[in-house]
Amino acid sequence: MSLRTRPLHKTLACEIEGLPLWEPLDEVTVAELQALWSNWGVLVFRRQALSEAELARFCALFGPLERTVRSDWASPSIPEVTVLSNLKDGLGRPIGGLGDGELQWHSDQSYMVKPATGAALYALELPPEGGETFWVDLRAAYAAVPRRLRARLSGQRGIFDYTKRLAGYGREADQNISEEARAKTPPVTHALVRAHPETGDRSLYLDSTTTTGIDGMDPISGPALLDEAYAAATRDEFVYAHEWRVGDLVLWDNGFTMHRRTPFEPSARRLMKRMTMQLDPKRHVMPDGALAESGIGMPV
Ligand code: OGA
Ligand code: MN
Repeated sequence: MSLRTRPLHKTLACEIEGLPLWEPLDEVTVAELQALWSNWGVLVFRRQALSEAELARFCALFGPLERTVRSDWASPSIPEVTVLSNLKDGLGRPIGGLGDGELQWHSDQSYMVKPATGAALYALELPPEGGETFWVDLRAAYAAVPRRLRARLSGQRGIFDYTKRLAGYGREADQNISEEARAKTPPVTHALVRAHPETGDRSLYLDSTTTTGIDGMDPISGPALLDEAYAAATRDEFVYAHEWRVGDLVLWDNGFTMHRRTPFEPSARRLMKRMTMQLDPKRHVMPDGALAESGIGMPV
């Protein structure tokens, strides 16, 4: 079967039309989807009606499902499914993560040594306005970075610290993590430039909510260079803006994209289900994490 596709942006994001994901997919279709994802970075499937088990089964076609450190956001029925919502249960406890606040440009899992870079977000309830999600293509961004800035970024490793990400969350419940989760998230470094294993295309690897500096640079110059990189990388022309409809499933590759979300009214309802997958490093851009050896500005 050949898939019907529709590009949603020049380089990033493609819609796959008329494919019911609750039905089993044949091998040829799966291979086609894998190639499309590796190439477009963001895939959109509309009008889906999926149980958690169906969502998990579909996502597992792309790689092993990951349980993230946010076990507090996990679905009670399938722990690999993360619930993202501002809704509360009968006792007033959040049913999932991330509330109604704004999320700045970030790449999921960048705080891990080995980030699981595949992500899927499935929309079940949406606010009348706000709660929009945007993705940026960091291949196109890299290609357009002025030569001198590119030279200054080349060979550098960013320091990615989950503590910074946590401090940025608007809701106290999201800022607190278990001792176990804390032990799994020490500061790490990743190269700021990576290449696609098949095409060789270079891309930036960035996360404005998590980077605190550049390995080996002082605490003023490191963040200043990162600021320049963020300004160059997030120009509108590299951005795909998704208009959510209930039933949308969006897959994205965190290896060469960032995404952000606008806030929405606390009284509105938003309910999303989220999967995280380890993608195949032969097909997808992979960050090359290492534990950070020193804090910022500390003598090495
Ligand atoms: C995520 C995320 C944005 C949104 O799932 O990683 O950043 O729109 N979500 O909820
Ligand atoms: Mn995210």
